[in-house]
Amino acid sequence: MSASILSALGLTEMNSGTYLGNGEWSKTASAGVLEAINPSNNEVIARVQASSDADYETIMTRAQEAFKTWRTTPAPLRGEAVRLCGEALRRHKDALGSLVALEMGKIKPEGDGEVQEMIDIADFAVGQSRMLYGNTMHSERPGHRMYEQWHPLGIVAVISAFNFPVAVWAWNSFLAAICGNITVWKPSPKTPLSAIAAMRICNDALKAGGFPDIFFLFNDAGTDLAQKFVDDRRIPLVSFTGSTHVGRLVGERVAKRMGRSLLELGGNNAIIVDQTADLKLAIPAIVFGAVGTAGQRCTTTRRLFVHESIMEDVVGKLVNAYKQVESKIGDPTQATTLMGPLTDKASVQRFLAAVEKAKASGGTVRTGGTALDRPGNFVLPTIITGVKNSDDVVQTETFAPILYVMPFTSIDEALELQNGVPQGLSSAIFTQNLKVAEQFLTAAGSDCGIANVNIGTSGAEIGGAFGGEKETGGGRESGSDSWKAYMRRQTNTINYSDALPLAQGIKFTV
Ligand code: UN1
Repeated sequence: MSASILSALGLTEMNSGTYLGNGEWSKTASAGVLEAINPSNNEVIARVQASSDADYETIMTRAQEAFKTWRTTPAPLRGEAVRLCGEALRRHKDALGSLVALEMGKIKPEGDGEVQEMIDIADFAVGQSRMLYGNTMHSERPGHRMYEQWHPLGIVAVISAFNFPVAVWAWNSFLAAICGNITVWKPSPKTPLSAIAAMRICNDALKAGGFPDIFFLFNDAGTDLAQKFVDDRRIPLVSFTGSTHVGRLVGERVAKRMGRSLLELGGNNAIIVDQTADLKLAIPAIVFGAVGTAGQRCTTTRRLFVHESIMEDVVGKLVNAYKQVESKIGDPTQATTLMGPLTDKASVQRFLAAVEKAKASGGTVRTGGTALDRPGNFVLPTIITGVKNSDDVVQTETFAPILYVMPFTSIDEALELQNGVPQGLSSAIFTQNLKVAEQFLTAAGSDCGIANVNIGTSGAEIGGAFGGEKETGGGRESGSDSWKAYMRRQTNTINYSDALPLAQGIKFTV
């Protein structure tokens, strides 16, 4: 099974982790080896040769060269390059979706869904390539014209996380590309194979279409390359997806050199269910939000606030649904599986520690709470009641399928609880009361980057700007006007008169 997935994408037992440009993959064997581990059985799927300092320098030199021509390539032509990537991804969707499932551990439909997000953002970027609009302004001076242009930045660093091993790169690099930038990617050391495969699919398509190199890749095996990357003054923008802890370090380091960073960090997302909610919608949304990707999405539903009058009813229905999921935990590449493993043993330990901590805070495990006694990193999806929103364990993002369910009495209270965490990514309310729905969406409502009514917290479409506030980092990726993060704005004033009037009416004659 695993061999056929690898060979469908041109991967072997040992692979180069460095795309150097000019169609070359580095032959470096001295910089360490990454092992891609199957989280379902903790066996090695294949190995990847990590990148050396010299490889990194080659990439940066070539990326700088590439930028010189790419920045003046017409944006719609840059869009055509991304269109070819989208077409190639369509052809490889099944194979790449399977590899993502195998290496990351999300179930096959979610692996395919991730590749679909790459295709969708490619389509979006193609259209956007003709819409890099700037405003025009009326000058206060006669015979003058003012307008603004958006120019590319240069080299964009993308540092992605294991949970979305290919889509995060596409959200960033496809938009960055149509904006005229060159992307250098450092994927998670847990998912190097998916990155290599995605890179190969897109770079082969670019080459066949006669386009130059715009995407580079390196893999770091715990050396100081990652740090060098973040500190590199040749990189005006670092887009980082990962934990709040590491994101804070990245943000500080990039700010120190006056670079820009785009941070997509932790979430602690809540769903509010009021007494009018349609539970036919709410229950499946909660289950998908809390259990999907085994609780390893930044948009995973981690907290649930239920009106006290329906609290026990909702918990009962959820426990029933969780029991059905339990019977479908297993190999994520199998069609019948609903929930795969956690990424590694350390994640299982963190899951167990959080359950213990919740119990110590007065929590009751209503279902789940344990790891499965079988190979791989499987745990049971877990529901805990009896904790308080202010408890340390509830305030913390544990990347695992644990849902804390808490009652509320008034919508004001529910809003205060939902906003009462350090993170601010995604949020949702289930209600049939229009006034309550609207209150949730006002400036005094949800403080998150994403606020949904009658759909869950995860599974955002690429057409909207994706990201969140507070410790989630403030960055926005994907749709709406997120493309602006990959460009620099230039204000131009042109004098087509024969006089030189100064602004603000200042007279200065010599
Ligand atoms: C992430 O977990 O890093 O909204 C991103 C979602 C996906 C993106 C998740 N579209 O769940």
